[in-house]
Amino acid sequence: MGWSCPSTAASRPSEFAPDRGKRPSGGNQRVPGGTTSVLTAGPAARKSFTAGRLRAGRHTAERRPSAVEGRGNNTNKDRRRMMSYAIVGFGRIGQALAHAFARKNIDVTVASRRPPEALEPQARAIGPTVVAKSLREALEADTILLAVPFGEHREVAKVLPSWEGKTIIDATNAFPVPEELGGLPSSAFVAKAFTGAQLVKGFNHLGAATLATDPVVAGGHRVVFLSGEDEDATARVEALAKQLGFAPVKLGKLDEGGALVHARGRVWGPLIFQDLFKKEP
Ligand SMILES: NC(=O)c1ccc[n+]([C@@H]2O[C@H](COP(=O)([O-])OP(=O)(O)OC[C@H]3O[C@@H](n4cnc5c(N)ncnc54)[C@H](OP(=O)(O)O)[C@@H]3O)[C@@H](O)[C@H]2O)c1
Repeated sequence: MGWSCPSTAASRPSEFAPDRGKRPSGGNQRVPGGTTSVLTAGPAARKSFTAGRLRAGRHTAERRPSAVEGRGNNTNKDRRRMMSYAIVGFGRIGQALAHAFARKNIDVTVASRRPPEALEPQARAIGPTVVAKSLREALEADTILLAVPFGEHREVAKVLPSWEGKTIIDATNAFPVPEELGGLPSSAFVAKAFTGAQLVKGFNHLGAATLATDPVVAGGHRVVFLSGEDEDATARVEALAKQLGFAPVKLGKLDEGGALVHARGRVWGPLIFQDLFKKEP
């Protein structure tokens, strides 16, 4: 049994390699239907990475209040509250996400099992708003993009005694789906480990090479699918996805629309690998 991730035919060969993290024995990376002829990004989407427009200084993204958070003073307070972001896992998907933040000049910390000094050269190469920190320091952020091999989520979850008040954006995939999930969508299983956090599944349906490229192609915005139990958390991630230039599409709860971006057994959800674009973000 193993953990895997979507890749595209345009991906580098290394993207077809199994995840490097710990996993149960016998797992091989699989591509749906045993074929690599999945959707690929167009030529424009394959243009080289850019660090984005680099302005003097940094800014942290402003939190967009959700509809249910009230109006008046509460809304103003929420508007003043600044969001902080961390990417945990600085491999293929973690770096692809870091490019998205760098492109928009949004601060993000990155961390993995390795010390920050080991990640710093790559972080710096991606852009000045990408800063490597220790895992513990990175987890001080209120929004954490989880980009570790599926089986490693438990190790990350153990680092904090409580995840109250935090939002986890789960970019992990479990493939083939291990039996221990007992029929739960993999992200619902991940959510159980992060006690107190709100989890939103997202940024998991495309290969890393595609995700790393500018999501604005010929005036269209690359779609990312979001699903989760909490509407406020999903709305916050929706706002972030838009800031990053993506067109978020909300699918509802994990076991409802979210099923479309989860694997079931040895079959990928039908929206995985679908590299779609919308005119409006
Ligand atoms: N690759 C894709 O195209 C793709 C697409 C969609 C979704 N995904 C999903 O995204 C996740 C990451 O995939 P990937 O391809 O980016 O994997 P990867 O290239 O192997 O990178 C994994 C990263 O996770 C870190 N890591 C592992 N265990 C950790 C732990 N306990 N605590 C902190 N960091 C840890 C590793 O850090 P060290 O280097 O320090 O060990 C490494 O930086 C997987 O769940 C995969 O299914 C991948």
